[in-house]
Amino acid sequence: MKIETYSLLLTERLRPTQLDQVILPASTLSTVDAWLNAGLVPNLLLFGSPGTGKSSLARIIVKRLGAFAIRVNGSNKQDVKDVLKKLDAFCSSIAVTGEPKICVIEEADYLSKDVQAALRTVTEDYSALVRFIFTANEVERLIPAIQSRFVKIDFDDLGDEVEALKSRLKESLGVRLQELGLSFQQSKLEAIVDRDFPDYRSIANALELEVN
Ligand SMILES: Nc1ncnc2c1ncn2[C@@H]1O[C@H](COP(=O)(O)OP(=O)(O)OP(=O)(O)O)[C@@H](O)[C@H]1O
Ligand SMILES: [Mg+2]
Repeated sequence: MKIETYSLLLTERLRPTQLDQVILPASTLSTVDAWLNAGLVPNLLLFGSPGTGKSSLARIIVKRLGAFAIRVNGSNKQDVKDVLKKLDAFCSSIAVTGEPKICVIEEADYLSKDVQAALRTVTEDYSALVRFIFTANEVERLIPAIQSRFVKIDFDDLGDEVEALKSRLKESLGVRLQELGLSFQQSKLEAIVDRDFPDYRSIANALELEVN
């Protein structure tokens, strides 16, 4: 299959690229926005159900900070091994142009306890030079020592804004599909959102069958 075919997947085309497209309570978004305006984020643990926007937020943060980033898949043992080797060099080097450095560890809940323990020290040793963003589905698989060192954002906890965010998503998906030049029935879109919310990846996949 050609690369271009992948790029046409709605899941990728609907991925949020700006902070205000991420589905989180307004107070959380404004806190993140303030960090970004200040030019640095704390170590972040983004956790919650699949398809809720965690990886998308990590990308948005890296992009808005213009950060020098490395990205690791915590469920890939080789990837983790390679990165642990490179992490010291990545963390201790001074970025030439002064941009912040971020190490994004996706699926951090798959990291072994030993690796988590090693990272606990790394995050502290290099706290002045590097920020870590972990994403995870099951936060309880992370050792308490990691959990306590990270600022946690729970993507499953939308507080009392669930209905407002659902409405916002219906509206924004409609606008974005139009911008992509795709035709669809708004009533179908709304039924899909009502059925699959808050799994936005499922929503994008279901919309794939409904758009022309
Ligand atoms: N706010 C949003 N608005 C519209 N679509 C979204 C939104 N957030 C996520 N999506 C859709 O869900 C897809 C998956 O998002 P993302 O990769 O950020 O999820 P995730 O939380 O990292 O999931 P996982 O836990 O499986 O890694 C995106 O590609 C996009 O299609
Ligand atoms: Mg993800």
